[in-house]
Amino acid sequence: MALEISDKLNVAGVMAVLVIDRIEHTLPTIESLLEGGVGAIELTLRTPIAWEAARLIKKTFPEVLLGLGTVLTTDQVRKAVDWGVDFAVAPGCNPKVIAEAHQQGLFFGPGVMTPTDIEMALEQGCKVMKFFPAETAGGLKHLQSMAAPYHFLGLQFIPLGGCNIGNAPMYLGSPLIHSIGGSWIAPQKLIQAQEWSQIKNNAAEITRVIRE
Ligand code: 3PG
Repeated sequence: MALEISDKLNVAGVMAVLVIDRIEHTLPTIESLLEGGVGAIELTLRTPIAWEAARLIKKTFPEVLLGLGTVLTTDQVRKAVDWGVDFAVAPGCNPKVIAEAHQQGLFFGPGVMTPTDIEMALEQGCKVMKFFPAETAGGLKHLQSMAAPYHFLGLQFIPLGGCNIGNAPMYLGSPLIHSIGGSWIAPQKLIQAQEWSQIKNNAAEITRVIRE
């Protein structure tokens, strides 16, 4: 049976958060990530060319697990589905956006940082949530305390915000963690400087950690 998108992301273990501001940087960035073993992406909708980049990625690398980040409206959810995007996440927990994603059959990870956020997401039927901003909110320790009352529900979290190669093993070692992500693998500065080999090395480094 084909794996659900959530399971594929879980197996991948990590997604590279991308902020791409020039369309010509899109394919070399994805190529470098793939060469380093990272095939799951959160492409943020924070630049004018983000949608164009999403289309290009899907067309050129259909095997990439392509998620959109900073998805804030129901229109964006519908457009993501029309464009064949695999999943979406948001920094916050917007019930209308989550409901639209579920209606459209799009795997959606709403951002949570408090028990109230978790309960809002739960009410919408979410079992996997983005924990954001992970590190400044208190990191794994905060997540463990916050998630403890919901243990019986089997929730899982994707920490984003401040994750890096140093703290990745700690997060990945916890059963609360579904997968991790961050911009450290392909930071905007490296993309702008076209430092493709550095991006590939960063991807290879986290791929090694996940395999260990
Ligand atoms: C996101 O959109 O998920 C975050 O901006 C990623 O945070 P980071 O830049 O600290 O990795």
